[in-house]
Amino acid sequence: MSTPTTPSRILVLGAGSAMAQAYARRRAATGAAFLLVGQNAARLTAIADDLRAGGARAADIATLDLADLAGIEAGASELRRRLGEPDEVLIAYGGLGDQAASERDLGAARNALEVNFVSVALWILALLKDRPAAAPLTLITIGSVAGDRGRASNFVYGSAKGGLDRFLEGLAHAYAGTPVRVVTVKPGFVDTPMTDAITKGPLFASPDAVGADIVRAVEKGRRTVYTPWFWRPIMTIIRHLPWVVFKRLKI
Ligand SMILES: NC(=O)c1ccc[n+]([C@@H]2O[C@H](COP(=O)([O-])OP(=O)(O)OC[C@H]3O[C@@H](n4cnc5c(N)ncnc54)[C@H](OP(=O)(O)O)[C@@H]3O)[C@@H](O)[C@H]2O)c1
Repeated sequence: MSTPTTPSRILVLGAGSAMAQAYARRRAATGAAFLLVGQNAARLTAIADDLRAGGARAADIATLDLADLAGIEAGASELRRRLGEPDEVLIAYGGLGDQAASERDLGAARNALEVNFVSVALWILALLKDRPAAAPLTLITIGSVAGDRGRASNFVYGSAKGGLDRFLEGLAHAYAGTPVRVVTVKPGFVDTPMTDAITKGPLFASPDAVGADIVRAVEKGRRTVYTPWFWRPIMTIIRHLPWVVFKRLKI
């Protein structure tokens, strides 16, 4: 299958994300046109200016609550109309949520599940609906290592990312042998506004390093990328720990 290594129309859902910005900056140099979607118009405008200065041939913005489930179908049609059929989509929005609050308040739990899984799955289905079968698409979605095994400290967010991982796995299977490529990105800890409240340690990566890893993964045709790379062996160990050991860990 040919890979569009120089995408021409890139749709970014959650364009304010530090990782998305790092990725888009690298793609701007290829002269791509962007449609940047997020909630904060001022931030999106600054990012669009930055991408045009970096070589993007166009960069427009759209402000939307991407977790508003009722608006997804019409929103996807409108974004596709504005940009033209994208040949690359990056889905980067998400929120860590608050595990303790989710256990007390079902509204908080529902919000975490809708932001990190339900809405993302619906956006993907809406963007693929009625797409010309021959049109190439690289669909890049940022999941998380948190989805690899349920843990006490974040099982609401983690299960949303885990569900997303299964969804993308099935999607990749469904579209194997077609021009639609599905790339799942699994970052570990990344120093972004999302982790502002967490004390930084040696396992933290920069958004820029993640952006570079995503470019490499897309260009090499990878299905799943752990970023930085060392999270793959770490998560292999965590996934395979026997329950008698795992249940004693405070993670
Ligand atoms: N940082 C980490 O350690 C880490 C690790 C693994 C995976 N991830 C995943 O990486 C992705 C990117 O996160 P990041 O670390 O780059 O964090 P970030 O810089 O805080 O970006 C998250 C973005 O999501 C947007 N967003 C959240 N809810 C939204 C909604 N309902 N509608 C529209 N936009 C919404 C936020 O926009 P507003 O600020 O305008 O709401 C923000 O721009 C997320 O999926 C996250 O789960 C992060």
